[in-house]
Amino acid sequence: MRKLKVVLYGVGAVGSLIAKFLLEKEGVEIVGAVDVAKDKVGKDLGEVLGLEKKLGIKVSENVDALLSKVNADIAIHATTSFLRETFPQIASLIKHGVKVVSTCEELSYPYYAEPKLAKELDALAKKHNVTVLGTGINPGFLMDTLVITLTTVCQKIEKIEAVRVMDAAKRRLPFQKKIGAGLTVEEFRQKIAEKQITGHIGLEQSIAMIADTLAWKLDKITAEPVEPVIAKKPVESKDIKVKAGEAAGLRQKAKGVMKNRDIIILDFQAYIGAEEEYDAITIRGAPNIKQKIQPCIHGDISTVAMVVNSIPKVIKALPGLLTMKELPVPSAAVEDMRKYISL
Ligand SMILES: NC(=O)c1ccc[n+]([C@@H]2O[C@H](COP(=O)([O-])OP(=O)(O)OC[C@H]3O[C@@H](n4cnc5c(N)ncnc54)[C@H](OP(=O)(O)O)[C@@H]3O)[C@@H](O)[C@H]2O)c1
Repeated sequence: MRKLKVVLYGVGAVGSLIAKFLLEKEGVEIVGAVDVAKDKVGKDLGEVLGLEKKLGIKVSENVDALLSKVNADIAIHATTSFLRETFPQIASLIKHGVKVVSTCEELSYPYYAEPKLAKELDALAKKHNVTVLGTGINPGFLMDTLVITLTTVCQKIEKIEAVRVMDAAKRRLPFQKKIGAGLTVEEFRQKIAEKQITGHIGLEQSIAMIADTLAWKLDKITAEPVEPVIAKKPVESKDIKVKAGEAAGLRQKAKGVMKNRDIIILDFQAYIGAEEEYDAITIRGAPNIKQKIQPCIHGDISTVAMVVNSIPKVIKALPGLLTMKELPVPSAAVEDMRKYISL
């Protein structure tokens, strides 16, 4: 059986990690890469990934030019978070008959923020007989798919709460900057106002996905303003020192409200110096459920895993735009990829 042919669309931080993992994996081959970053276009993918060897794959800035020369089964898409921006990129892949797994947060549950674009993408995917999935660790798993899976054992549910607490000191520098670590509180608030810090994207998508799965008609989904987590004492990572009184990172909450009750609450916290890291899900119902994963799931490792593990399920799925709730039970694909699919 031949190897699965993969194109990478976006070889930034996450796309590069996915590429390195795919290079180690049996049964898959990378046949092309697309990115617009000036420091990547035209270079050999091996060089972009910081490897010592060349891979014989030049990073192209034009997906149509690449796919008119190269046949691919599936694209791993990791460029930006907003569907309005990623729509034309994903549409190009679909028109070339290439299936898509994307880390675009809004695509994880596109019916919340972009229902019209979601409908268009679904129709386009069906027309070209391909499947498209938005996934990742969060959104994509921790605060939605995993929550939904746990609800399976409940007869009744009154309230759902999911909390993620991460020590940002253990994450890469761009992530620490993205959450405002080391800024004064004034600087933090200014960067939030100017959208230089966006915070975590996807809480509303996760809430909408849970509610729709349970057939709960929410009155509204509210996202609270992103707040700095202010360091009570000096804390530091390898690259950033945070003084007491400065922002060590951020906290943000979103709620799904039904009949004046906060029925789904998601609470995301990422800051340098978090003493206890965890992912916790509490379901109040029959039975009550308390699940705590300690330490919290590693965001980068597991985003790569979620994307790559989704490949066989997307290859085998019916055409159209899918979300995690429409795929079979999620699972790892740790063996040769060909064992999970037949091409
Ligand atoms: N769902 C999840 O759990 C999850 C987890 C991790 C990441 N994500 C999301 O995945 C996306 C990628 O993350 P990242 O950390 O890898 O971001 P990144 O480091 O900024 O990398 C994105 C790469 O894509 C390139 N790019 C941007 N627009 C493009 C376009 N139109 N065509 C081709 N290439 C384009 C960027 O080039 P420039 O630098 O020139 O813009 C950059 O090289 C982000 O939106 C991130 O929030 C989601």
